[in-house]
Amino acid sequence: MKLTGRNILLGVTGSIAAYKVTFLVRLLVKEGANVKVIVSTSAKEFVSPVVLSTLSKNKVLESFYKEEGFVWNNHVDLGLWADLFVIAPATANTLAKMNTGICDSLLTATILSARCPVWVAPAMDLDMYAHQSTQNNLTQLIDKGVKVLEPESGQLASGLEGQGRLQEPEVIFNQIKNFFTANSPLSGKKILVSAGPTYERIDPVRFIGNHSSGKMGYAIAEQAAMLGAEVTLVSGPVSITTNVAGINKVMVQTADEMFEACTSVHKSMDVIIMAAAVADFKPKHFSDKKIKKKETMTIELEKNKDILKFMGANRNNYQTLIGFALENDNEEFYAKGKLEKKNLDYIVLNSLNDKGAGFGHNTNKVTIYSKVGTRMPLPLMSKQEVAREIVSLLV
Ligand code: PMT
Repeated sequence: MKLTGRNILLGVTGSIAAYKVTFLVRLLVKEGANVKVIVSTSAKEFVSPVVLSTLSKNKVLESFYKEEGFVWNNHVDLGLWADLFVIAPATANTLAKMNTGICDSLLTATILSARCPVWVAPAMDLDMYAHQSTQNNLTQLIDKGVKVLEPESGQLASGLEGQGRLQEPEVIFNQIKNFFTANSPLSGKKILVSAGPTYERIDPVRFIGNHSSGKMGYAIAEQAAMLGAEVTLVSGPVSITTNVAGINKVMVQTADEMFEACTSVHKSMDVIIMAAAVADFKPKHFSDKKIKKKETMTIELEKNKDILKFMGANRNNYQTLIGFALENDNEEFYAKGKLEKKNLDYIVLNSLNDKGAGFGHNTNKVTIYSKVGTRMPLPLMSKQEVAREIVSLLV
């Protein structure tokens, strides 16, 4: 599904054509997109929010407050969430508000907050569309970066003939699909990502592990796949999953299994990103019987193979290798040491001393060092945003 994982915000305003948007929502959801709908107050006269919320699988939003308990519908979060914002149908009134920056509703405030591309698909009677005010608004919106999906000509709801009909849902849908295909700069690239912890078995019930949740690695795999890459995600045991298209997930338990899974494909990869927290040691002996309770116990450990170091030593010239370093003292020194010793292009340092960074959190705070000496410190941000920054190095 070409739109899996894409976040599409649909703004619906008060035109008779609003009913057509139900077909658009259905097409987008069928193609795997996450769809949220914001309606203007008058849109509800033309299309049922119940239909839109059933089809989009999300509650339809209208006002700044959710009915229950005065909870804020955050227009800023919605604007940041969206990869594309389509206002369809867009009335003359909404176009005028958009052009002048009026934000007297959740919909218009979200339009001002959106960082993603904003499209409008106008629909209105022919004279309203041809009116100089509407045309001026459209011209100025185009100057401000808004894309206009020009209305079609034909018979209008008023019975008159002329330009003003909303583009057919299939036509809008195809343009959305083309937009995301054209925005796939990693198309044709093969990327190996590792994520999560490894579990080193002691006996049938016990293991040595760590706190990695897999969130960082999965976010990287998803961002890369959404930009068109063919991703192999080698994952240790985690409780999260992904349904983004273009990710071939290989589940492993131990560092040895992760070594096998990574090294069996690494030669054919354009990019390798090791976000997994691989155990450095494993028990020297595995007991196939559950070890009985004793007063004290010693487990002899032996070193695991360093997967990234192996891949750095056996890399192709065209490959980009990115490692992670999780440190809690002398961070920069150790991170730079790993960059050099493992023959990497970049190392992403996260420190256990930074609040909200490292294991388990939905956020991370990283500094990216390159082999040519650059240093890119990033503020605390969601793991998705960190992933976007890392993947943008490749773009
Ligand atoms: O999974 P989350 O909860 O989201 O947490 C994310 C994270 C903290 C696990 C991630 O951001 C991170 O820092 N991953 C690397 C952690 C780590 O083990 O770092 P390290 O300094 O021990 O290893 C350096 C690099 O070598 C890493 O890229 C690691 O994957 C790799 N390595 C390490 C040991 C080994 N035997 N083989 C390896 O390939």
